[in-house]
Amino acid sequence: MTLLDWYDVHARNLPWRVPPGAERPNDPAYPYRVWLSEVMLQQTTVTAVKPYFEKFTAIWPTVFDLAKANDEDVMAAWAGLGYYSRARNLVKCARAVAARGGFPETEAELLKLPGLGAYTAAAIASIAFGKRAVVVDANVERVMSRLFNIEEPLPRARKAIRKYADKVTPAIRAGDFAQSMMDLGSQICTNRAPRCLLCPLLNMCKGNAAGEPERLPVKPPKKAKPARSGTAYWIEREGKVWLVKRPGTGMLGGMRSLPDDGWSAQADGTGDAPIDGDMKSLGAVRHSFTHAHLTLELVRIAGEQIPAGEGEWWSVSQIEEAGLPTLFAKAARLAIA
Ligand code: ADE
Repeated sequence: MTLLDWYDVHARNLPWRVPPGAERPNDPAYPYRVWLSEVMLQQTTVTAVKPYFEKFTAIWPTVFDLAKANDEDVMAAWAGLGYYSRARNLVKCARAVAARGGFPETEAELLKLPGLGAYTAAAIASIAFGKRAVVVDANVERVMSRLFNIEEPLPRARKAIRKYADKVTPAIRAGDFAQSMMDLGSQICTNRAPRCLLCPLLNMCKGNAAGEPERLPVKPPKKAKPARSGTAYWIEREGKVWLVKRPGTGMLGGMRSLPDDGWSAQADGTGDAPIDGDMKSLGAVRHSFTHAHLTLELVRIAGEQIPAGEGEWWSVSQIEEAGLPTLFAKAARLAIA
Protein backbone atom coordinates (compact mmCIF):
# COMPACT_ATOMS: atom_id res chain seq x y z
CA MET A 1 0.00 0.00 0.00
CA THR A 2 1.25 3.50 -0.72
CA LEU A 3 1.03 6.35 1.73
CA LEU A 4 -1.46 8.21 -0.49
CA ASP A 5 -3.74 5.14 -0.62
CA TRP A 6 -3.63 5.05 3.16
CA TYR A 7 -4.36 8.79 3.34
CA ASP A 8 -7.37 8.41 1.04
CA VAL A 9 -8.95 6.23 3.74
CA HIS A 10 -7.46 7.57 6.98
CA ALA A 11 -6.93 11.32 6.48
CA ARG A 12 -8.02 13.34 9.49
CA ASN A 13 -10.91 15.66 8.85
CA LEU A 14 -9.52 19.04 9.92
CA PRO A 15 -11.19 22.44 9.52
CA TRP A 16 -8.45 23.87 7.25
CA ARG A 17 -8.28 20.85 4.97
CA VAL A 18 -9.99 19.61 1.85
CA PRO A 19 -10.71 15.87 1.69
CA PRO A 20 -7.98 13.70 0.13
CA GLY A 21 -7.91 13.81 -3.65
CA ALA A 22 -10.39 16.73 -3.77
CA GLU A 23 -9.82 19.69 -6.09
CA ARG A 24 -8.22 22.63 -4.35
CA PRO A 25 -10.99 25.22 -3.86
CA ASN A 26 -10.74 28.16 -6.21
CA ASP A 27 -11.28 30.55 -3.32
CA PRO A 28 -8.72 33.07 -2.03
CA ALA A 29 -9.77 32.15 1.52
CA TYR A 30 -8.31 28.66 1.03
CA PRO A 31 -4.59 29.64 0.93
CA TYR A 32 -5.32 31.99 3.82
CA ARG A 33 -6.75 29.14 5.88
CA VAL A 34 -3.81 26.88 5.00
CA TRP A 35 -1.31 29.59 5.94
CA LEU A 36 -3.09 30.43 9.21
CA SER A 37 -3.31 26.78 10.24
CA GLU A 38 0.34 26.09 9.43
CA VAL A 39 1.49 29.07 11.51
CA MET A 40 -0.71 28.00 14.40
CA LEU A 41 0.42 24.37 14.19
CA GLN A 42 4.10 25.17 14.67
CA GLN A 43 5.08 23.76 18.08
CA THR A 44 1.39 23.36 18.89
CA THR A 45 -0.99 20.38 18.76
CA VAL A 46 -3.96 20.04 16.44
CA THR A 47 -6.25 19.85 19.50
CA ALA A 48 -4.96 23.15 20.89
CA VAL A 49 -5.12 24.85 17.48
CA LYS A 50 -8.68 23.97 16.43
CA PRO A 51 -10.61 26.47 18.62
CA TYR A 52 -8.13 29.26 17.78
CA PHE A 53 -8.43 28.52 14.08
CA GLU A 54 -12.24 28.71 14.34
CA LYS A 55 -12.05 31.96 16.30
CA PHE A 56 -9.60 33.66 13.91
CA THR A 57 -11.47 32.66 10.76
CA ALA A 58 -14.77 33.81 12.29
CA ILE A 59 -13.35 37.25 13.21
CA TRP A 60 -11.07 37.61 10.16
CA PRO A 61 -12.42 35.41 7.33
CA THR A 62 -9.83 36.57 4.77
CA VAL A 63 -6.24 37.76 4.79
CA PHE A 64 -7.52 41.23 3.85
CA ASP A 65 -9.61 41.34 7.03
CA LEU A 66 -6.65 40.26 9.12
CA ALA A 67 -4.43 42.84 7.42
CA LYS A 68 -6.80 45.57 8.64
CA ALA A 69 -6.93 44.29 12.24
CA ASN A 70 -5.34 46.13 15.17
CA ASP A 71 -2.19 44.43 16.41
CA GLU A 72 -3.61 44.47 19.95
CA ASP A 73 -6.75 42.59 18.90
CA VAL A 74 -4.72 39.90 17.15
CA MET A 75 -2.37 39.53 20.13
CA ALA A 76 -5.37 39.23 22.46
CA ALA A 77 -7.04 36.63 20.24
CA TRP A 78 -3.78 34.63 20.18
CA ALA A 79 -3.51 34.67 24.01
CA GLY A 80 -3.10 31.14 25.36
CA LEU A 81 -1.62 29.67 22.17
CA GLY A 82 1.96 30.58 23.12
CA TYR A 83 5.03 31.58 21.08
CA TYR A 84 3.67 35.07 20.66
CA SER A 85 6.21 36.14 18.07
CA ARG A 86 4.06 34.07 15.71
CA ALA A 87 1.14 36.44 16.25
CA ARG A 88 3.29 39.52 15.70
CA ASN A 89 4.63 38.04 12.47
CA LEU A 90 1.17 36.91 11.44
CA VAL A 91 -0.15 40.46 11.19
CA LYS A 92 2.97 41.69 9.40
CA CYS A 93 2.71 38.86 6.91
CA ALA A 94 -1.03 39.41 6.37
CA ARG A 95 -0.36 43.07 5.54
CA ALA A 96 2.35 42.15 3.05
CA VAL A 97 0.07 39.59 1.40
CA ALA A 98 -2.85 42.03 1.24
CA ALA A 99 -0.58 44.72 -0.24
CA ARG A 100 0.37 42.40 -3.12
CA GLY A 101 -3.24 41.32 -3.65
CA GLY A 102 -3.05 37.77 -2.32
CA PHE A 103 -0.69 34.90 -1.54
CA PRO A 104 2.08 34.08 -4.03
CA GLU A 105 2.00 30.49 -5.26
CA THR A 106 5.63 29.41 -5.31
CA GLU A 107 7.95 28.48 -2.47
CA ALA A 108 10.51 31.10 -3.56
CA GLU A 109 7.94 33.94 -3.56
CA LEU A 110 6.35 32.76 -0.30
CA LEU A 111 9.78 32.82 1.36
CA LYS A 112 10.01 36.55 0.66
CA LEU A 113 7.05 37.26 2.95
CA PRO A 114 7.97 38.62 6.39
CA GLY A 115 8.38 35.98 9.10
CA LEU A 116 7.55 33.12 6.76
CA GLY A 117 10.15 30.34 6.96
CA ALA A 118 11.17 27.34 4.86
CA TYR A 119 8.71 24.93 6.42
CA THR A 120 5.69 27.20 6.01
CA ALA A 121 6.63 28.15 2.44
CA ALA A 122 6.85 24.49 1.44
CA ALA A 123 3.62 23.60 3.26
CA ILE A 124 1.63 26.43 1.61
CA ALA A 125 3.09 25.87 -1.87
CA SER A 126 2.11 22.20 -1.76
CA ILE A 127 -1.13 22.20 0.25
CA ALA A 128 -2.66 25.46 -0.97
CA PHE A 129 -1.26 25.55 -4.52
CA GLY A 130 -0.49 21.93 -5.42
CA LYS A 131 3.18 22.62 -6.16
CA ARG A 132 5.71 19.92 -5.52
CA ALA A 133 7.61 20.95 -2.40
CA VAL A 134 9.52 19.03 0.24
CA VAL A 135 7.71 19.57 3.51
CA VAL A 136 9.62 18.55 6.64
CA ASP A 137 8.14 19.01 10.10
CA ALA A 138 8.76 16.95 13.25
CA ASN A 139 6.31 14.28 12.07
CA VAL A 140 8.09 13.94 8.75
CA GLU A 141 11.46 13.81 10.53
CA ARG A 142 10.21 10.89 12.59
CA VAL A 143 8.71 9.02 9.64
CA MET A 144 11.81 9.48 7.45
CA SER A 145 14.30 8.55 10.20
CA ARG A 146 12.43 5.32 10.79
CA LEU A 147 11.60 4.44 7.20
CA PHE A 148 15.26 4.80 6.21
CA ASN A 149 16.76 3.87 9.58
CA ILE A 150 18.71 7.12 9.91
CA GLU A 151 20.89 6.59 12.99
CA GLU A 152 22.60 9.96 12.93
CA PRO A 153 21.35 12.20 15.76
CA LEU A 154 19.35 15.39 15.24
CA PRO A 155 20.01 18.11 14.29
CA ARG A 156 22.80 16.68 12.10
CA ALA A 157 20.38 14.13 10.61
CA ARG A 158 18.28 16.91 9.02
CA LYS A 159 20.32 16.86 5.82
CA ALA A 160 19.74 13.14 5.25
CA ILE A 161 16.09 13.45 6.29
CA ARG A 162 15.51 16.17 3.72
CA LYS A 163 17.27 14.15 1.03
CA TYR A 164 15.01 11.14 1.67
CA ALA A 165 11.88 13.28 1.95
CA ASP A 166 12.77 14.80 -1.42
CA LYS A 167 13.26 11.33 -2.88
CA VAL A 168 9.81 10.07 -1.80
CA THR A 169 7.78 13.24 -2.54
CA PRO A 170 5.68 12.71 -5.67
CA ALA A 171 5.18 15.29 -8.42
CA ILE A 172 1.40 15.16 -8.08
CA ARG A 173 -0.76 15.48 -4.95
CA ALA A 174 2.21 17.02 -3.12
CA GLY A 175 -0.08 18.63 -0.54
CA ASP A 176 -1.91 15.41 0.19
CA PHE A 177 1.43 13.64 0.39
CA ALA A 178 2.81 16.14 2.94
CA GLN A 179 -0.30 15.83 5.03
CA SER A 180 -0.27 12.04 4.74
CA MET A 181 3.19 12.01 6.36
CA MET A 182 1.91 14.31 9.10
CA ASP A 183 -1.09 12.08 9.75
CA LEU A 184 1.02 8.93 9.68
CA GLY A 185 3.45 10.59 12.10
CA SER A 186 0.77 11.65 14.52
CA GLN A 187 -1.53 8.61 14.30
CA ILE A 188 0.71 5.60 13.58
CA CYS A 189 4.40 6.45 13.58
CA THR A 190 4.11 8.08 16.99
CA ASN A 191 6.95 9.20 19.21
CA ARG A 192 6.50 6.46 21.76
CA ALA A 193 4.94 3.05 21.08
CA PRO A 194 4.47 3.38 17.29
CA ARG A 195 1.61 1.25 15.95
CA CYS A 196 3.75 -0.52 13.35
CA LEU A 197 1.28 -3.34 12.68
CA LEU A 198 -1.20 -0.77 11.32
CA CYS A 199 1.39 1.04 9.22
CA PRO A 200 0.97 1.03 5.42
CA LEU A 201 4.77 1.29 5.10
CA LEU A 202 5.59 -1.60 7.43
CA ASN A 203 7.07 -3.90 4.79
CA MET A 204 9.46 -1.21 3.51
CA CYS A 205 10.44 0.27 6.88
CA LYS A 206 14.14 -0.19 7.57
CA GLY A 207 13.75 1.12 11.13
CA ASN A 208 11.18 -1.55 11.88
CA ALA A 209 13.39 -4.21 10.29
CA ALA A 210 16.28 -3.07 12.50
CA GLY A 211 14.09 -3.80 15.50
CA GLU A 212 13.66 -0.62 17.55
CA PRO A 213 11.95 2.07 15.46
CA GLU A 214 10.88 3.99 18.58
CA ARG A 215 14.58 4.82 19.15
CA LEU A 216 14.53 7.05 16.07
CA PRO A 217 15.14 9.86 15.42
CA VAL A 218 18.06 9.97 17.84
CA LYS A 219 17.76 13.21 19.77
CA PRO A 220 20.55 15.18 21.41
CA PRO A 221 20.47 15.01 25.23
CA LYS A 222 17.92 17.43 26.68
CA LYS A 223 19.33 20.43 28.48
CA ALA A 224 17.91 20.84 31.96
CA LYS A 225 15.63 23.87 32.10
CA PRO A 226 16.79 26.49 34.58
CA ALA A 227 14.40 27.61 37.31
CA ARG A 228 13.59 31.31 37.25
CA SER A 229 11.55 33.38 39.64
CA GLY A 230 9.83 36.71 39.50
CA THR A 231 7.09 38.84 40.95
CA ALA A 232 3.93 40.22 39.38
CA TYR A 233 1.74 42.89 40.95
CA TRP A 234 -2.01 42.95 41.40
CA ILE A 235 -3.08 46.57 41.72
CA GLU A 236 -6.85 46.75 42.04
CA ARG A 237 -8.85 49.91 42.53
CA GLU A 238 -12.67 50.03 42.43
CA GLY A 239 -13.16 46.72 40.64
CA LYS A 240 -10.46 47.42 38.05
CA VAL A 241 -6.97 46.04 37.79
CA TRP A 242 -3.92 47.75 36.29
CA LEU A 243 -2.67 46.05 33.12
CA VAL A 244 0.34 46.94 31.01
CA LYS A 245 1.54 46.02 27.55
CA ARG A 246 4.80 44.10 27.53
CA PRO A 247 7.47 45.88 25.53
CA GLY A 248 9.62 44.59 22.74
CA THR A 249 9.62 41.55 20.55
CA GLY A 250 11.07 39.08 23.07
CA MET A 251 9.16 36.46 24.98
CA LEU A 252 5.56 37.65 25.55
CA GLY A 253 6.45 40.95 23.84
CA GLY A 254 3.39 42.92 22.72
CA MET A 255 1.08 40.99 25.04
CA ARG A 256 -1.11 42.55 27.71
CA SER A 257 -0.02 41.50 31.20
CA LEU A 258 0.13 42.35 34.88
CA PRO A 259 2.97 44.69 35.80
CA ASP A 260 6.00 42.78 37.08
CA ASP A 261 9.52 43.20 38.35
CA GLY A 262 11.22 42.48 35.04
CA TRP A 263 11.87 38.78 35.71
CA SER A 264 11.92 38.05 31.98
CA ALA A 265 14.90 40.36 31.51
CA GLN A 266 16.74 39.67 34.76
CA ALA A 267 18.00 36.25 35.78
CA ASP A 268 17.58 36.98 39.47
CA GLY A 269 14.04 38.32 39.15
CA THR A 270 14.74 41.36 41.29
CA GLY A 271 13.26 44.72 40.47
CA ASP A 272 11.03 47.46 41.72
CA ALA A 273 7.32 47.47 42.31
CA PRO A 274 5.54 50.06 40.14
CA ILE A 275 4.13 51.90 43.17
CA ASP A 276 4.49 51.99 46.93
CA GLY A 277 1.74 50.59 49.07
CA ASP A 278 0.76 47.86 51.40
CA MET A 279 2.14 44.63 49.91
CA LYS A 280 0.66 41.22 50.50
CA SER A 281 1.64 37.97 48.80
CA LEU A 282 -1.30 36.19 47.19
CA GLY A 283 0.75 33.06 46.46
CA ALA A 284 2.63 31.90 43.40
CA VAL A 285 1.91 30.36 40.01
CA ARG A 286 4.22 28.12 38.02
CA HIS A 287 4.58 28.07 34.28
CA SER A 288 7.02 26.31 31.94
CA PHE A 289 8.43 28.08 28.94
CA THR A 290 10.65 26.45 26.32
CA HIS A 291 13.81 27.61 28.06
CA ALA A 292 12.89 27.83 31.74
CA HIS A 293 10.49 26.93 34.52
CA LEU A 294 9.14 30.06 36.11
CA THR A 295 7.72 30.58 39.57
CA LEU A 296 5.89 33.88 39.63
CA GLU A 297 4.89 35.30 42.97
CA LEU A 298 1.82 37.47 42.92
CA VAL A 299 1.83 40.47 45.25
CA ARG A 300 -1.16 42.70 45.85
CA ILE A 301 -0.35 46.35 46.34
CA ALA A 302 -3.15 48.00 48.28
CA GLY A 303 -3.54 51.69 49.04
CA GLU A 304 -4.41 54.84 47.17
CA GLN A 305 -1.43 55.24 44.90
CA ILE A 306 -2.06 55.03 41.15
CA PRO A 307 0.64 53.70 38.82
CA ALA A 308 2.30 56.18 36.51
CA GLY A 309 3.27 55.33 32.95
CA GLU A 310 1.45 53.45 30.27
CA GLY A 311 -1.23 50.97 31.18
CA GLU A 312 -4.95 50.63 31.51
CA TRP A 313 -7.56 49.86 34.13
CA TRP A 314 -9.34 46.66 33.19
CA SER A 315 -12.60 45.53 34.77
CA VAL A 316 -11.80 42.51 36.97
CA SER A 317 -15.11 40.89 36.07
CA GLN A 318 -14.08 40.95 32.40
CA ILE A 319 -10.51 39.78 32.84
CA GLU A 320 -11.12 36.77 30.54
CA GLU A 321 -11.43 39.20 27.62
CA ALA A 322 -8.11 40.92 28.32
CA GLY A 323 -6.18 38.39 26.24
CA LEU A 324 -3.61 37.65 28.92
CA PRO A 325 -1.01 35.01 28.06
CA THR A 326 -1.44 31.80 30.07
CA LEU A 327 1.08 32.73 32.79
CA PHE A 328 -0.77 35.94 33.66
CA ALA A 329 -4.21 34.39 33.21
CA LYS A 330 -3.16 31.88 35.91
CA ALA A 331 -1.99 34.74 38.15
CA ALA A 332 -5.29 36.62 37.63
CA ARG A 333 -7.23 33.49 38.57
CA LEU A 334 -5.18 33.24 41.75
CA ALA A 335 -5.92 36.86 42.65
CA ILE A 336 -9.63 36.52 42.00
CA ALA A 337 -10.01 33.18 43.82
N1 ADE B 1 0.86 19.87 11.45
C1 ADE B 1 1.34 20.89 10.74
N2 ADE B 1 0.62 21.05 9.61
C2 ADE B 1 -0.34 20.11 9.62
C3 ADE B 1 -1.39 19.77 8.73
N3 ADE B 1 -1.58 20.46 7.62
N4 ADE B 1 -2.16 18.73 9.07
C4 ADE B 1 -1.94 18.07 10.22
N5 ADE B 1 -0.99 18.33 11.08
C5 ADE B 1 -0.18 19.35 10.79
